[in-house]
Amino acid sequence: MPAQKTLFICNQCGYETAKWLGRCTACNRFNTLEEKAVRTTPAKIGGASAAFSHSKDASAPTLLRDINLSPTRGQVRKSTGIAELDRVLGGGLVGGSLLLLGGDPGIGKSTLLLQICRHMASEAFPILYISGEESAPQIKLRAKRLDVDPPGLYFLAETDIHAIQDAVKKIKPALLLIDSIQTMRLNELASLPGSVTQVRECTAFFTQLAKAHHTAVLLVGHVTKEGAIAGPRVLEHMVDCVLYFEGEGRDSYRVIRAVKNRFGSTHEIGVFEMGEKGLTVIADPSAYMLAGRPVGVPGSAVTCSLEGSRPLLLEVQGLVSHTHFGTPRRTANGMDYNRMVMLMAVLEKRAGYKLATYDSYVNVAGGLRIEEPAADAAILAAIASCYRNKAIDPAYLILGEVGLAGELRAINQPERRITEAARQGFTACVVPQANKKNIKPPQGVRIFGAAHIGELLGLLL
Ligand code: TYD
Ligand code: MG
Repeated sequence: MPAQKTLFICNQCGYETAKWLGRCTACNRFNTLEEKAVRTTPAKIGGASAAFSHSKDASAPTLLRDINLSPTRGQVRKSTGIAELDRVLGGGLVGGSLLLLGGDPGIGKSTLLLQICRHMASEAFPILYISGEESAPQIKLRAKRLDVDPPGLYFLAETDIHAIQDAVKKIKPALLLIDSIQTMRLNELASLPGSVTQVRECTAFFTQLAKAHHTAVLLVGHVTKEGAIAGPRVLEHMVDCVLYFEGEGRDSYRVIRAVKNRFGSTHEIGVFEMGEKGLTVIADPSAYMLAGRPVGVPGSAVTCSLEGSRPLLLEVQGLVSHTHFGTPRRTANGMDYNRMVMLMAVLEKRAGYKLATYDSYVNVAGGLRIEEPAADAAILAAIASCYRNKAIDPAYLILGEVGLAGELRAINQPERRITEAARQGFTACVVPQANKKNIKPPQGVRIFGAAHIGELLGLLL
């Protein structure tokens, strides 16, 4: 076992001391000393410690073209057996990589882990599931309910990192699941499990473990109430891939989003539904998101957002009603508040809508969050439609970014979005004029170009 000691290091000037001080004696700043575990002898985890030992060979630069990708180290991908998850990961799990799965407590992270095991675990691909939160009988019960009983799945209820290291040496898993990183502890540190120091040091330890044994490690991290503190965010820079599990607690759908991926693209999403038998893939998310859409009601508009390689149809709802207070209320649900306020200002100034005496609400149905400016035109149209009390034809898809002068600006990949809408039975689409000439419309879809929001609203209302 490597000998470790604890040091306090100033995060401003790098000053080291063996004991905690409120004020750094070197730079005189307050509260800058951070606890750190320091290894006093070179680490030796398993047999393959060369990957991070400080031998001469390891630190000598090599020509990039001379580096061989050995089959165990290179980007060998293995399917998780869950197609949606594979796509988010960029084609499967990369051997020896470190993943972080973040999400609110109770969103379904542990459920997903077990479902990954169902397909992946085998004698040739052993998986070690470590839980610091649940006991073996609890996990067994859940596994039974989910019908998960693969060969090669080992379980250990443990929080001590060194005990986990011993188990890894014994079982040599191809994949190590840690549920959750906030319950793990390195005994050399005085601070409590879940503190920033513990969480960081434990992650660093798992990184070395992953490299030494060519084991992929999946860390579960709870998003804590305090937000960033000791939650998954403090670890994002230390891992290869960060996945976030999102969803509204009361809704059954769940979205997995990659926010960082060293082996694939980010912003891919996988859509699931949480049901009695755990998580099931939603094969057609656009249809799912539009289900129950009110037809012929003012204030509803449909746009298409690109989530990674996937186009997703979303319904935007707008509501305006006379305010009873001096200052009107503005509420944005599922989009950036400032963007909503900006769009309303454009509507007021460039199209003459008098919104100052109205409370206004924007909601993205289904609980997803719109991040793309390509949805601007639909948001604006939903508000205008409610204000004018005129419904937008439900066969229309609305695309376009809105500028401060009221101009509709070009968006990327309009054809992919329109094709998705055509698949869902939409027969017309309004796009920015600049996009129109380059679009070959799918059969049965009419394309209208608009250069300004005045033209857009004229077409729709
Ligand atoms: P869990 O995976 O324990 O969440 P996390 O590990 O992210 O804290 O999921 C807990 C929730 O999921 C719980 O509220 C019950 C629900 N659930 C189902 O609806 N169906 C199921 O089959 C399972 C296993 C859980
Ligand atoms: Mg859990």
